[in-house]
Amino acid sequence: MAYQTIIVEIEDYVALIRLNRPEALNALNSQLMRELGEALTEADRNEKVRCIVLTGSEKAFAAGADIKEMSTKNFVDVYTENLFGDEIERITATRKPIIAAVSGYTLGGGCELAMACDFIICADNAKFGQPEINLGVMAGIGGTQRLTRFVGKSKSMEMHLTGRFMDAVEAERAGLVSRIVPASKLLPEVMAVARKIAEKSQIAVVAAKEAVNRAYETTLSEGLLFERRNFQALFATEDQKEGMAAFLEKREPQFRDK
Ligand code: CAA
Repeated sequence: MAYQTIIVEIEDYVALIRLNRPEALNALNSQLMRELGEALTEADRNEKVRCIVLTGSEKAFAAGADIKEMSTKNFVDVYTENLFGDEIERITATRKPIIAAVSGYTLGGGCELAMACDFIICADNAKFGQPEINLGVMAGIGGTQRLTRFVGKSKSMEMHLTGRFMDAVEAERAGLVSRIVPASKLLPEVMAVARKIAEKSQIAVVAAKEAVNRAYETTLSEGLLFERRNFQALFATEDQKEGMAAFLEKREPQFRDK
């Protein structure tokens, strides 16, 4: 499919989706969010895709929702169109794992988009923030909830109320990102991680992703039950037999997603 605001490449079972509005530091407008949703739907359906990487440019993953596009809207407009509501849910509904490879400005809706992915690996120049307060509004696509779960109430509250940015070191220390990589090595590193995930049994990958994400949605006892059921269900797969046999036979497993 031809897109104007994103670039999609598929290689080695990994779909690399680049946000591509350099003139606006990849600000998220309605077209970009629609195209991203379509690309994720395609990737979920495509048998040649087993992991997804979402990235921006070195200067900006995304500098937030598009302020120009939003500036003239009123309450009825954004309420009626449910601004970004459906699009962000499309991202979290994606079954295949999505890694956010984040470099530079990751602000407002950009930070919220990264947090809606399954995990974030960032470059050493990354800057995270929820500066919507400076525009007379507040985060609107998950920031107050997801950032708080990632970094705790104090840091999240401070960031939302002051608009201050967090650098990569602080983001890693606070648990927002899984690790930091030099900016020039970000994409090769993240693609290697994605290829590693793509080699696993995709049934186990999806089951594990669902169980980890459940930790943010439910109580501990319900989450533990969900995990145990998923774990037990994997014993119905050929990949479980293959994975354990390969270990015992001291060879690499050949998973077939069955
Ligand atoms: N929306 C639209 N355009 C944006 C944008 C945004 N969020 N962020 C940057 N741009 C545009 C600028 O207007 C500029 O365009 P022109 O060259 O046509 O003037 C271009 O991108 C480059 O930006 P700057 O010249 O500002 O670059 P800089 O290096 O001096 O500053 C920055 C970078 C600090 C990120 C600054 O651009 C900035 O503060 N951007 C806005 C960040 C922000 O407030 N984000 C929150 C948006 S609201 C939101 O996201 C709501 C939500 O939760 C859903």
